[in-house]
Amino acid sequence: MTAATGSHGLTFRQDYFADPADWAALVALLQDTFGIDVSIQDRFGGPDPTSVPFAYFDEDGTCAANFSTFSMPMMIDGRLVKAAGFQSGAVRPQWQGRGLYRDLMNRALNWGDDQGFELGILLTDKPAMYEPYGFKILPQQRFLGAPPPLEVKLADTSRELSVDNAGDVALIRQVLRERVPVSSVFAVAAQAEMFLLNSVFDPDIKLTYLDPFEAVIAWKSDDASFQLLDIAGKAIPAFAQVLAALDQKPDHVEVCFPPDKLDWQGLPELLDSDVSLMVRGEAAVRLSGPVMLSPLAEF
Ligand SMILES: CC(C)(COP(=O)(O)OP(=O)(O)OC[C@H]1O[C@@H](n2cnc3c(N)ncnc32)[C@H](O)[C@@H]1OP(=O)(O)O)[C@@H](O)C(=O)NCCC(=O)NCCS
Repeated sequence: MTAATGSHGLTFRQDYFADPADWAALVALLQDTFGIDVSIQDRFGGPDPTSVPFAYFDEDGTCAANFSTFSMPMMIDGRLVKAAGFQSGAVRPQWQGRGLYRDLMNRALNWGDDQGFELGILLTDKPAMYEPYGFKILPQQRFLGAPPPLEVKLADTSRELSVDNAGDVALIRQVLRERVPVSSVFAVAAQAEMFLLNSVFDPDIKLTYLDPFEAVIAWKSDDASFQLLDIAGKAIPAFAQVLAALDQKPDHVEVCFPPDKLDWQGLPELLDSDVSLMVRGEAAVRLSGPVMLSPLAEF
C-alpha cells in the first residue's frame, strides 16, 4: 500500500484493501453512490485479489473518491489478451468538480500501462468522460434465434445451485478457476468474483451444474423464451445439450455472448442499454465479429 498527502486536505492511498477499515470505507462509498453492497464478496473470499484501488481518504477515514483496476484476462479473436478492467469510480458529492476523478483516472491508467496491459475495459453511462483517455465504445450485440433441434434429455445429470449454499459456492468457485472461455471471439478467460456477485445481485439468474461437462450454466427463462447468460466449465456443451439437460423447450432463444462454441447460430441484434462497453487498446478495436460481454462478467 502507498499513502501520500494529496489535494484538498485528503490523503491519497493505493492498493489499500489489506486494511479492513479502508475496504469498509470503499464499501460505504459504493453503497452511497450506487446503492450496491459489494461487501457481499466477503462471503466469497473477499474482493478480487488482483484489484488495485486508487483513492482519496479524509482525516476521519471516509473514502472521498475511488477508481479501481483489476486483472481480467480475455480471449479475443482466439488470442489470450492481458486485459485490465476499470471499476468502482465514484467521488462523494462534496468533493466533486475539483479534478479528483481526473487525478485517479490518470494514476490508474498510467499504472495499468506500466504493468503492460494490452487492453483496458470498462462499463459506463458517461462515455464522454473516458473518451479523452483513449476509450472507445464497443457496441454490444446479443444473439437471437430459434432453438437448436431438441435432443433427448439424458438421465438426471443436472443440479440447481444456490449462492446461499456454502457447498454450492465452493463448487462454483472451483469451476470458475478451471473454466475455459465461453467464446473464442470475446470472453473473460479468468475472473471469478463478478460471476458470483452478479448472481447475487440478480435473483432471477438460475445456476445449474451439468455433471458430464463439469460446467455451470447461467440462464433465465419465461414461458416461451430462454436466455443463455454464461457457461463456466471445463468444456462448453453444445446449445442443444444445454437445453436437453435443463429440460427446456423454448420457442425462441437469446445468447448473451458470441455463440461460436455452441454449435448454433443466431442473428446479432444491437443491445439497447444506457450502459456502454468501452475499450482502450488495439486488441478489441480490431475485432472481426459482433460481441457481447456476458452479463455474469459485468462489473
Ligand atoms: C462522475 C464523477 C466520478 C466525476 O468525479 P469528479 O471528481 O467530479 O470529476 P473531475 O472533477 O475529476 O472531472 C474529471 C473530468 O470528467 C468530466 N466530468 C465530470 N462529470 C462528468 C459527467 N457526469 N459526464 C461527463 N463528464 C464528466 C469533467 O468535466 C472533467 O473533464 P476535464 O478533465 O476535461 O476537465 C462523480 O461525479 C461521481 O461520482 N458521480 C456519480 C457516480 C458515477 O457516475 N461514477 C462514474 C461511473 S462510470
